[in-house]
Amino acid sequence: MKRKLFCMVLCIIMVTSLVTGCGKTKSTSGKGSDKLIGVAMPTKDLQRWNQDGSNMEKQLKEAGYEVDLQYANNDIQTQVSQVENMISNGCKLLVIASIDGDSLGTVLAQAKKEGISVIAYDRLIMNSDAVSYYATFDNYMVGTKQGEYIKEKLGLESAKGPFNLEIFTGDPGDNNARFFYGGAIDVLKPYVDSGVLVVKSGSVDFEKVATANWSTETAQGRMDAIIASYYADGTKIDAVLCSNDSTALGVTNALSASYTGEWPIVTGQDCDIANVKNMIAGKQSMSIFKDTRTLASQVVKMVDAIMKGGEAPVNDTKSYDNGKGIIPSYLCEPVFADATNYKELLIDSGYYTEDQLK
Ligand code: BGC
Repeated sequence: MKRKLFCMVLCIIMVTSLVTGCGKTKSTSGKGSDKLIGVAMPTKDLQRWNQDGSNMEKQLKEAGYEVDLQYANNDIQTQVSQVENMISNGCKLLVIASIDGDSLGTVLAQAKKEGISVIAYDRLIMNSDAVSYYATFDNYMVGTKQGEYIKEKLGLESAKGPFNLEIFTGDPGDNNARFFYGGAIDVLKPYVDSGVLVVKSGSVDFEKVATANWSTETAQGRMDAIIASYYADGTKIDAVLCSNDSTALGVTNALSASYTGEWPIVTGQDCDIANVKNMIAGKQSMSIFKDTRTLASQVVKMVDAIMKGGEAPVNDTKSYDNGKGIIPSYLCEPVFADATNYKELLIDSGYYTEDQLK
């Protein structure tokens, strides 16, 4: 009888320890294992974050770490709770791609108290002194490349125009959106000021061209309205600056539905499969390729250095101030992709198979 009781208690303890906690291995202290890394991603809705998440998980595991990977369905409160759980389950380091850069201050104060390092992944976490490092692609350069593409294709340096331009950028709560917009507008604004580029909708300022949640539907709705008000008679739209692929998808959907003029230049970012297909079909002119494998391997190097008690490798110590000071950053280099080079960039490198793009 006593033995039976002992076995039952033992079973309950084992099941409880399996169910609780974010890691698969537990240390004797009951907190997460010494190798447990929490990885918080914003959403599964956008292809890139799925790739970021799985690349991080794969590469961290290869480096000998355990991983608690969570996606928050673009819901700020869900992400806060996930990070809280990672902390209470004993994760030793957090890698976070925030939904809203300003919403993690309180939970990260707790991380800091517990001595847990935080790496901001792709998006900077604002107004928190708990962020140790930031790893991303050079966001300003992303915007510059988009602006330069439009400048070159329209021949803005010598052409008189006027050319019609419309602008779509991203979520105002995402610090990156301001960098993308800033990089592009610094290239294009002189031509808007001189009248070579005309923005018929009148929407040029960041707040006016922002797209909440980077939503395809929101971008599509705004583009539908712009076409109806300014281009319904077939007036040519020469270019649409879109900061990323989800907004570009909304814009091309609207163009396909109701625009009758000559197809404009449309920019994007991420090389999502639907957008690469549009590029091949001539509906989107370019996208920026940010190889998530490169970013993941850089972050794994940073994690490894911190976990071994050292300093993480960085290459920028001036660009990213999160409101509490400059965050040492590692910026990977983005490249532009279009119909002429996508095969080499995306298929030959093994990022996609040819079949995925059919
Ligand atoms: C990322 C982009 C992405 C956008 C929407 C940004 O923070 O840098 O690659 O397209 O978020 O998810």
